Amino acid sequence: MDNTHFGFEQVDKKDKEHLVREVFSSVAENYDLMNNLMSMGIHHCWKDSMMELITDYSQNFLDVAGGTGDICKRYYDKANKYNKNPIINICDINYQMLDVGRDKLIDQNIINKINFTTGNAECLPFKDMSWGYYTIAFGIRNVTNIDQALKEAYRVLKPGGKFICLEFSQPTNKYLAKIYDAYSFNIIPFIGKIVANNQHAYQYLVESIRNFPKQQQFAAMIEQAGFKNVNYINLTGGITAIHYGYRI
Ligand SMILES: C[S@@+](CC[C@H](N)C(=O)[O-])C[C@H]1O[C@@H](n2cnc3c(N)ncnc32)[C@H](O)[C@@H]1O
Repeated sequence: MDNTHFGFEQVDKKDKEHLVREVFSSVAENYDLMNNLMSMGIHHCWKDSMMELITDYSQNFLDVAGGTGDICKRYYDKANKYNKNPIINICDINYQMLDVGRDKLIDQNIINKINFTTGNAECLPFKDMSWGYYTIAFGIRNVTNIDQALKEAYRVLKPGGKFICLEFSQPTNKYLAKIYDAYSFNIIPFIGKIVANNQHAYQYLVESIRNFPKQQQFAAMIEQAGFKNVNYINLTGGITAIHYGYRI
């Protein structure tokens, strides 16, 4: 069996995509509420920080694993403010997560400004060199083959295009790490059980964070995929990090 991790479990690689899909199908309905509760709303600030790395709102913009629509909505608002009219696309493997984003964008009356695509980060349904930005927020740790997803990000970006990834990472301070561990393993699955009646899914989310490569290691993987000027910014003491790089 060719194994990979699914949370702290070892599973056959070919089963992981389906297991991850089940997790997100089961949390989709309560996703935004749970996200706000678990992060105490801080995920909005992390996403705002990610958007600060964007400077040119005329570029075509692809947000992968973007089911909630949060990242594309932010890009659209800025592009609109500067009278730019780029193509904006959310791509996610899970149509139930895409529905979460679609409902929000309908409520905000901008549904016709943003395209939706169902697709896997490992084999994106887009042409080579077609996007100015590729973003992925809290998505890449769920992908079975992260190196392959990074190669795909490189393939679809135009020369000069920018890759930006927001993901949970490694706290840089050992005391913060202890508090964060206690919170993650005790409180988050408990909130998942009480609010979403789904302890298992939130246990997976916490465990998947622990399996994700640390800041330096992930930066090396991004370089390995061909990106240049790769760097990262720690947020909230390294609980999350934004990694970025360019296709030259
Ligand atoms: C934690 S959610 C993040 C959603 C959104 N980016 C946000 O930050 O609000 C992770 C998303 O990754 C998607 N996902 C998981 N594996 C994927 C894959 N292989 N390709 C594309 N999307 C994937 C899930 O369906 C889910 O919508």
